[in-house]
Amino acid sequence: MLRFVLENSKDTRLLAETLANHLVSSDLVILTGELGAGKTVFARSLLSCLGVQEQVTSPTFVLVKSYQGRMPIEHVDIYRVDDPEELDILCIGELLDDGHLVVIEWGEKAIGMFGPSYLQVTFERIDTEASLEEEMAGDAKRFVTVEIVGPGFTGRRTQIEADIGKIWRVA
Ligand SMILES: Nc1ncnc2c1ncn2[C@@H]1O[C@H](COP(=O)(O)OP(=O)(O)O)[C@@H](O)[C@H]1O
Ligand SMILES: [Mg+2]
Repeated sequence: MLRFVLENSKDTRLLAETLANHLVSSDLVILTGELGAGKTVFARSLLSCLGVQEQVTSPTFVLVKSYQGRMPIEHVDIYRVDDPEELDILCIGELLDDGHLVVIEWGEKAIGMFGPSYLQVTFERIDTEASLEEEMAGDAKRFVTVEIVGPGFTGRRTQIEADIGKIWRVA
C-alpha cells in the first residue's frame, strides 16, 4: 500500500496517467473516497489516457457508462446501489471476463465480488484551510492511497510502485 499527497487536481490527473500506463484488458479499478474527493476527476483522466476520445461524464445517475479506448471500458458508479443483487444486474463479472476494463466509483462495496485482483485508489480530503474557491478550482490537497491487490497484478506491482515513487514522496 502506498500513501502520499496529491497537491491539486493536476497531480490527481498525473496519477491517473501514471497508472493508465500499466493497465490492461479485464483490470478492475476501484475508486474510494467521500463525495467530492476526486474519484470522477481521476476516472476522467484515466479513461482519456486509456484512449477514450469522447467526453467522460459522471455516471452517478446512470450507474454505468461504456466507452471504447484501447480496450472496452466501463465507468461505473455504485453510490446508490446498496443491495448486492442490484450489482448483479450490471454484469460486471461478465464484462471483466469479456476483456472490459472496469472502473468503479464507490467501489469498496464491490471488493471481493469480482475476483481477488484489483487496483484501489482512495482519495481523502486533507483538513487544511483550502478555500471553497480553491476546492472548486481543483487546487486542494488530497491524501491518496494506492493498493495493488491480487495475483492479476503480480507481474506489474513493482513497476507501478517504482513509477509512483519517481514522482511522489511515498510513505
Ligand atoms: N487534488 C484534487 N484532486 C481532485 N479533485 C480536486 C482536488 N482538489 C480539488 N478538487 C476538486 O474536487 C472535486 C472532485 O469532484 P469529483 O471528482 O466529481 O468527486 P467524486 O467523484 O469523488 O465525488 C472537483 O470539483 C475538483 O475540482
Ligand atoms: Mg464521482
